[in-house]
Amino acid sequence: MENLTNLDLMIDPSLKVSDDNNEEKFLNNPIVTVGPVTKQYLKAVKSYITDGNRFVFSDGASKVQVSVISDEIIRVRMAPQGTFLADFSYALQPYDHVITEVKFIENDLQYLISTPKVTCAITKADFLISFIDRDGFLMSSDAKPMHYEENVQFGGYYIYCSKTCQTTEDFYALGDKATEFNLRGKRMVLWNTDTYAFAKNQDPLYRSIPFYLSLNKGYCYGIFHDNTFKTHYDFAVESMDCTSFWSDGGELNYYYIHGPQMVDVVRRYSMLTGTHQMPPMWALGFHQCRWSYYPDKKVKQVANTFREKKIPCDAIYLDIDYMNGYRCFTWNERYFPDPKNLLSELNDIGFKTVVIIDPGIKVDENYWVFKEGKANNYFCRRCDDYFMEGNVWPGRCQFPDFTNPKVREWWGGLFQGLLDAGVDGVWNDMNEPAVFGSGSFPDDVRHNFDHHRGSHRKAHNVYGMQMVRATYEGLQKLQKNKRPFTITRAGYSGVQRYSSVWTGDNVATWEHLKLANVMCQRLSISGISFCGTDIGGFTGEPDGELFTRWIQLGVFTPLMRAHSAGDTREREPWSFGEPFESICRKFIELRYKLLPYLYSAFWQHYKYHLPVLRPVVMLEPNEHINHFREDEFSFGDSILVCPVLQPGVANRKVYLPKGTWYDYWTNHKYKGGKEFVISTPLDSMPIFVKGGASIPEYPVMQHVNEFELESVTLKTWFSEMEEKSIIYEDHGENFAYKLDIYLEKTITVRGTNGSFVMEQTMHGMYTPRYEKYEHIVYGLPFKVKKVIVDGKEIKKYSFDTTNVLSFTTTKQFKKIEILA
Ligand code: GLC
Repeated sequence: MENLTNLDLMIDPSLKVSDDNNEEKFLNNPIVTVGPVTKQYLKAVKSYITDGNRFVFSDGASKVQVSVISDEIIRVRMAPQGTFLADFSYALQPYDHVITEVKFIENDLQYLISTPKVTCAITKADFLISFIDRDGFLMSSDAKPMHYEENVQFGGYYIYCSKTCQTTEDFYALGDKATEFNLRGKRMVLWNTDTYAFAKNQDPLYRSIPFYLSLNKGYCYGIFHDNTFKTHYDFAVESMDCTSFWSDGGELNYYYIHGPQMVDVVRRYSMLTGTHQMPPMWALGFHQCRWSYYPDKKVKQVANTFREKKIPCDAIYLDIDYMNGYRCFTWNERYFPDPKNLLSELNDIGFKTVVIIDPGIKVDENYWVFKEGKANNYFCRRCDDYFMEGNVWPGRCQFPDFTNPKVREWWGGLFQGLLDAGVDGVWNDMNEPAVFGSGSFPDDVRHNFDHHRGSHRKAHNVYGMQMVRATYEGLQKLQKNKRPFTITRAGYSGVQRYSSVWTGDNVATWEHLKLANVMCQRLSISGISFCGTDIGGFTGEPDGELFTRWIQLGVFTPLMRAHSAGDTREREPWSFGEPFESICRKFIELRYKLLPYLYSAFWQHYKYHLPVLRPVVMLEPNEHINHFREDEFSFGDSILVCPVLQPGVANRKVYLPKGTWYDYWTNHKYKGGKEFVISTPLDSMPIFVKGGASIPEYPVMQHVNEFELESVTLKTWFSEMEEKSIIYEDHGENFAYKLDIYLEKTITVRGTNGSFVMEQTMHGMYTPRYEKYEHIVYGLPFKVKKVIVDGKEIKKYSFDTTNVLSFTTTKQFKKIEILA
């Protein structure tokens, strides 16, 4: 076996990145003999070289690079003709991954690359790659050697990877698919597509998240295939014992992400591709949207009605009709003669305004945005240099190339005028990109791709993400220390660093309510926690019951926005009259009470990479039946919900994972590990709190910061086991948290049949303005005789007949002892 030592020998020097548009960056791979185009499989390994934590194996023609990224993440790349492509990714973020130790062993049959957590084995005879947990469990193994096929028409290769699939193995994630939560038995495609009124099982949809999870006998791993070309997945369809993924170009370039816990795979994927930033607190309130609220009087009337009817709301949206002929960054002067005044009036009653901005820029020589884009050569062009023109809302449009850093910089600056008018957030839509008639751009459109030039085949799936990145970065720059709020329809892995997302143009049906639940859970475990659906359904007409049930689910989706198409009847929380209006109010109020809890869950996402929504299968992956549960999910650490997804049902089955749970409404105690039938009158939905949880609640406000808080209610549920809850607080609107100006509190509780102790530790440099906690403790199994706070007995407490204990302490308490 030949052992080369210099890795550079294997990489073509011409691959260096250059800014010069005329310089070739990718050499065509030499085709020495011309034969029929067929799939080529890797053959026996002939040589390898090692370079620190990178290993390159060759079968004489193709090369495979295996690199250890962390103890749990191993990257695999394949170069069909031995030349790796320039190493560039829009998905990855810089991150200090930990590598403890890497061992390399060669035996007669295999090469073994091991970290303390996982071993990657490469067979010599047939170049099959597998991953083995440290306890010997075979996590994943190639069913066939990696393979490729020359794409004669476009250049480059179709690249393929096939892994064996066990009978007990199931699959999850992949972004926003409108299908069952468990993906086994599905074929899916990633190609961002504008799918108005999409149907169940319609595919592809708006986003491309090439990350899936495999779960087999409680062992979980993930594959993140960082390839932006059209990508395909087959989860045991073509063959029951095989799963495959393949792309129409680019490099076979995947990250094996080890668990074995499912939640850890998702956490590690977020370490690779990033998390959401902390959202401004108001963005977690209720948002009201409509295509479109206009003129200004209508906007004011809707906002005022929220206040009159005392239904909390923080944001109102302006859809395309606020613009002059749908020209981005302009106002329709007839409908909105004085935007600054309007937005300031809205602001006075506690409303933030979010405006839509689409990528299509109207071809109009008198329109400043078009003129600037044209003068600077910022618009996309076809292969023969014609501009990429297509019809969208404004008519004939050209489209900025958001994959060009200069274009992103320019675009970011365009928001100054909207900010001056008082705009608080930006909604990026139609960025798949959508073009009327043809669907999207043709493949031959050229893109800068951050100086790694490519056609639309390569840039299509990242176009929307780069658009919202430009928007986010621009807002961040212009707003200085204020957190931007953005929402996008299209995206690629890593889009979460720049935006929240919604699931696009859904339909007002019960089937779509079910899909909304599944899609948000799926997005959350695909790295996109800040997600929501058009509450009520975008197209079609919900009745009061469907709308109300959707509001209930919406309380527990990280983004809570009601939206509807222009050709539907009015769709505000009061539109269906009573009893729906009161029930919607009750649930939107619940959302506002839970804001500090949701905010803490976001912190745990940002800081500890935990998804905000966690499906039951993630909570209990060892139970095979849970592989198929998709209705119940955990919202943050401690609340389990199960939305009602059918009309007219008086009750529904809810599975509670093992452990103690309390009904949020009645405090009835349940021993989990089985299904229960829970009554579901329209003014209720199944909500359960984990025993031992401490949940902070705000008083009901009509909008975030409506008034200064005097106290926070801390609700705690008894547990015999030691349990911890994290509560996070900060300024709410700025980036001080990045400089450690925040407060992270841990409440630890444990109980016996005669005592319950709550301890609080804090770290960080933020001091909240309120002074007190109003404590409510539920589920105590004894009659309370004494309450001792930091060593001193307090006399003022109440203990009612239902064993609910209430008392007040300062926010700094360290230890509370509740004794029988
Ligand atoms: C698209 C969006 C929708 C929006 C409409 C008009 O259909 O998905 O949310 O209201 O365009 O801008």
